[in-house]
Amino acid sequence: MIEGHFIVLEGIDGSGTTTQTGRLADALRSRGLPAHTTREPSDGPIGMLIRQVLTGRLVVPGSTGGRAPSWSTMACLFAADRLDHLEAEIHPNLRDGVTVISDRYDASSVAYQSISSGLELDASVIDWIRTVNSRARRPDLTLVLDVPVAEANRRRRQRQGRVEIYDDDELQAALARFYTDIDAFFPTDRIVHIDANRSVDEVAADVLRAVEDLRRLG
Ligand SMILES: Nc1ncnc2c1ncn2[C@@H]1O[C@H](COP(=O)(O)OP(=O)(O)OP(=O)(O)O)[C@@H](O)[C@H]1O
Ligand SMILES: [Mg+2]
Repeated sequence: MIEGHFIVLEGIDGSGTTTQTGRLADALRSRGLPAHTTREPSDGPIGMLIRQVLTGRLVVPGSTGGRAPSWSTMACLFAADRLDHLEAEIHPNLRDGVTVISDRYDASSVAYQSISSGLELDASVIDWIRTVNSRARRPDLTLVLDVPVAEANRRRRQRQGRVEIYDDDELQAALARFYTDIDAFFPTDRIVHIDANRSVDEVAADVLRAVEDLRRLG
């Protein structure tokens, strides 16, 4: 059995990672290729815990009331979720020859936790986050959806989901800077940037093209 490919979509909030994860899976399945979609935080037990933090349901007691856990606690939770996600869901599918498409992976940890540390792009913070994730399998392909912060904001407002702890304009601008330079932080990964400031169909076509290029390489 030939292993499936492990494909990751990344980008700032509202860039379209969830939309394009679904579109890519549909496109592969319509070509007769088995595909499994997943996301981080995962739907496993640690992922559910993280979602409670993101929505403010789970807090650390502080002197002035509850607050979100620190960036380093969050980095460890995300890393634990990731290893559980790999063991319980990603690896079994890949071994069955299924292409796994994940809406976010460890680049999101490096981006969100390093920026929320207040030490944007600090080398020692980034190195530590990468170290706690060093047992996590590399993706075969990471697709970065590049979109201006203002456009991503507009899409998020339109969607009107729940406000999460990372929903802050300054943080989103810092995230956009990280994703622009992401290749420097993952020099051995295969990373393809997609101009996501276009229609869903146009973006989906480029995403599929990048995956077809990967499949041609084997
Ligand atoms: N290319 C596009 N053009 C216009 N609207 C889009 C495009 N892609 C996605 N949208 C819309 O923008 C909103 C956000 O998209 P989506 O949920 O896929 O983003 P996301 O990156 O997963 O966001 P988050 O990181 O917050 O989960 C949705 O309402 C979606 O329908
Ligand atoms: Mg999403």
